[in-house]
Parts: sequence; C-alpha cells; structure tokens
Amino acid sequence: MTDALEFYGICICMIILTIFFLSTPYCVFSSHRPITHQTPAAVHGLLHSPTVSTDTLLRSRASANARLSRVFRLSNSLVDPNLAVHAVFLRQCRALLQAAGCWMHFSGVALQAVELALLGITTPFHVFVRAVTLCTVIGGLLDPHTSSASNNIDIVMSRITCLRLLSRNPEPIPEHLLAVLNASLRRLLPDIEKYPNPLDFVIPVCAALWRVVAVTIAHVHEDAAACEAFRDFSANPNILPVFHAPRRGGTSPSVENYINESLRLHPPIRHITRHIFKPSMLTPFLPGILATRIPPRINTEFADIESAQRSAFRSSGSPPEAYDAARFLHSPRVSDVLAFGHGPLKCTAANWAPTAAAVIVGAILNRVNGVTYQIVRGGRVGGREGWDGWMVRKLA
Ligand code: HEM
Ligand SMILES: *[C@@H]1O[C@H](CO)[C@@H](O)[C@H](O)[C@H]1NC(C)=O
Ligand SMILES: *[C@@H]1O[C@H](CO)[C@@H](O)[C@H](O)[C@H]1NC(C)=O
Repeated sequence: MTDALEFYGICICMIILTIFFLSTPYCVFSSHRPITHQTPAAVHGLLHSPTVSTDTLLRSRASANARLSRVFRLSNSLVDPNLAVHAVFLRQCRALLQAAGCWMHFSGVALQAVELALLGITTPFHVFVRAVTLCTVIGGLLDPHTSSASNNIDIVMSRITCLRLLSRNPEPIPEHLLAVLNASLRRLLPDIEKYPNPLDFVIPVCAALWRVVAVTIAHVHEDAAACEAFRDFSANPNILPVFHAPRRGGTSPSVENYINESLRLHPPIRHITRHIFKPSMLTPFLPGILATRIPPRINTEFADIESAQRSAFRSSGSPPEAYDAARFLHSPRVSDVLAFGHGPLKCTAANWAPTAAAVIVGAILNRVNGVTYQIVRGGRVGGREGWDGWMVRKLA
C-alpha cells in the first residue's frame, strides 16, 4: 500500500518536473519566434481583433515600441499605454488638424518652405524634401507663429533618422545625439507649454510624411501627365475638390490616386509591431497566488503592411510591384489601403495626411521644374535612407 502511494507520489513529481523543464525552454523559444501577417485579412485580425479591449491594444503597442521610447524619450500614446495619455494626445492632434483647416494657407506655407530650402546650390534630394516637409508642417500645422527660416531643419531630420536606425541595434545610444536634436528642435518649436516634449509630435507628424512626398516625386517627376496633375492642383485654390477630382473625364489618375499608389507601394511604416501577452504555460498547474506572479509570455507579431497591400493587387491589372496610379481606375480596392493602420489605433491624420503630402509635392514640382532647378534621378527609390545619387540640381 505505502509502496503504491510512494510510486504515485514519484510519478506526480516527475510529471510536474517534466512540465516545468519542457515549458521553460518552450517559453523562451516561443517568445523569440515572431509571427508576420501578410494579407489584409490577417493584418485586420492583428490590429482590430473584436475581442481585445483598447486598453490591451495600447499595452501591446507601447510594449512593442519600448525601444523607440528609450531612444527618443517619447511620452505620447505610441509608447505610453495609459488610456488618459491616449485621450489627451488624440485630442491635441485633432485640435491641431482642425486649426490647420485652411488648405490655401497650408499651400502658401509649402510654397514658402520650398523657397527657403532652395539655397541656390545643388542639394541632396532627401535633405531637400525633409527640410520642405518639416518647415511646412511647423508653419502650417504645429506652430503657425514661428518663422522657421533656420539651418536647424536638417539637423533635426537627420538626427531623427540616425537615432531611428540606431534604435534597431541593442548597443547603448550616445547621449549627445538626443541632446543636440532636442536643442535644435526647441529653437523651431519654442512654445514649451504647448510642446513640453516636441518629439512627441514631430515624430508621428513628420517622419512618415516626408517619405510619402519623396517617393511620390521620385515616381512622377518624369511623367508629364502626372506633373501636369500636380501643377494644376498646386495652382488651383479649390484644393480639396481638385485633390479628389478624376482627370480627363476619368481616364487619367487623380492627384489622390498618385498619393494612394505611393502609400500602397511604399508604405512609410512598413511593419506595425504588437506584443501579444499570453499567460505562462505553467499558470494552470500552479495555485492562484503563484500563477499571478509569473510574468506573461510575450509574442511579437508584425503586420507586414507592404506585403499585405501588394497581395491585395496580385490578381488584377499591372503587377503589384509596379508604380501605376491608373490601377485604381480599373480596380478601386479602397479598403485595402493599410498604410495608416487599422482599427481603434489607426492614424488620426489618415484623412489629412494624403492631401498634405500632395500639397507639398505640388509646391516642389511647381518650382523644381527644369527651368532653374531640376530633379536628378539616383540609383533606386529610397525610404528612410537609400537616396544615393538623387539631387535637386541648380541649373546654370
Ligand atoms: C503619410 C503620413 C502618415 C502615415 C503613413 C501615418 C501612419 C500611421 C500609422 C500606421 C499609425 C498607427 C500605428 C499603430 O497602429 O501602431 C499612426 C498613428 C498615429 N498617427 Fe499617423 N501617419 C502619418 C501622418 C500623421 C500626421 C501628419 C499626424 C498628425 C497629426 C499623425 C498622427 C498620428 C497619431 C496621433 C497616431 C496615434 C493614434 C492613436 O494612438 O490612436 N500621423 N500613423
Ligand atoms: C529637452 O529639452 C528640454 C528643454 O527645452 C528639457 O526640459 C528636456 O529634459 C530635454 N529632454 C531631453 C530628452 O534631453
Ligand atoms: C485613397 O485611399 C483612401 C484610404 O486611405 C480611400 O479612402 C480613398 O477612397 C482612396 N482614393 C482613391 C481615389 O482611390
């Protein structure tokens, strides 16, 4: 009898030990195997699962952005899961977008920004586009009262890119990089009360926008019909109607079609990352008091926006890897634009940013049109980096 009890006791201990030893390496293993979602349906599932609360969505995003938060010391809702922080940040962004309501004014600011950035010399293309975009966004959206004539502009944008690239490596980031960025930015946005941490706004507002502008110009500057569309748009005071209007009786792409095609082919945010929290595998085997103390397993999941947007066009018209704004004339797959995210945390500026990008593209093409300045093509269409050879050249 006692032998049998002892035998069962040993068996139970062995089972518990086995579960422990099997599950621990499995935990470690599983948290290092990210899942990538590459179709629109899978991306929707990750970003807007109907059973997940906004609170959990915010934690999933903030945890995944922890490195971003350390590098830039951000305090907005991209890195802070607090519901109140989210509400305040959204309110501030919506108020800015509403105050920037007049597109005529915004367009004037963009034309002025182009003049400021054309220094009478040949400039690297990405430096030029970054300067025009940041200058336009400061004067037209963030702080209409400052004059942004400043040589700090490119320090700001190049440091943001540099820190962003460094944030992918595990090594510690040199302190002075952020200090210089912070100081330069303060000169551009001096209102400390409105912008206690200017990067909280400049990063979401500018980092993606300049790349949409750059990619669009790269694809359209040698296409006569497209350039004509953007110049007409830039010269017309009815900005919003002209942005949407089909051209040549609907046989030629609208300005909006070009921007949507840029967002489809080169979404500036290629991956949206989430951390999914799952209770530890040990939890069911442990008493409640212990179970609540075991940290959850964290699985990393990516919404691969670029692949998802390409897969949606796999079966129709020109190949998904080609830049072809006219594809939307034949197959308007509107719901498949995922560049602004999806669900409750979708970009606040999803309606505003495409028009803003088009206004900036129009302002640049208006002035850099081959008479005094000309765009010189480089190796390939870049992203955050990779614009080698691209220039805005001053003609003699
Ligand atoms: C073409 C330019 C832009 C692109 C492609 C873009 C893209 C995105 C994406 C993908 C997200 C969602 C992130 C996630 O789910 O984790 C996001 C969030 C956000 N974006 Fe944008 N964005 C752009 C421009 C802007 C601008 C100009 C503003 C200025 C107000 C802005 C404000 C925001 C805010 C406040 C959020 C957070 C929303 C929330 O927490 O609910 N974005 N953006
Ligand atoms: C940035 O500068 C402000 C003053 O303008 C200062 O209060 C803040 O701590 C600085 N932040 C970082 C990350 O250096
Ligand atoms: C462009 O994309 C947006 C979604 O971001 C969509 O609402 C709009 O209808 C699209 N426009 C065109 C002309 O395809």
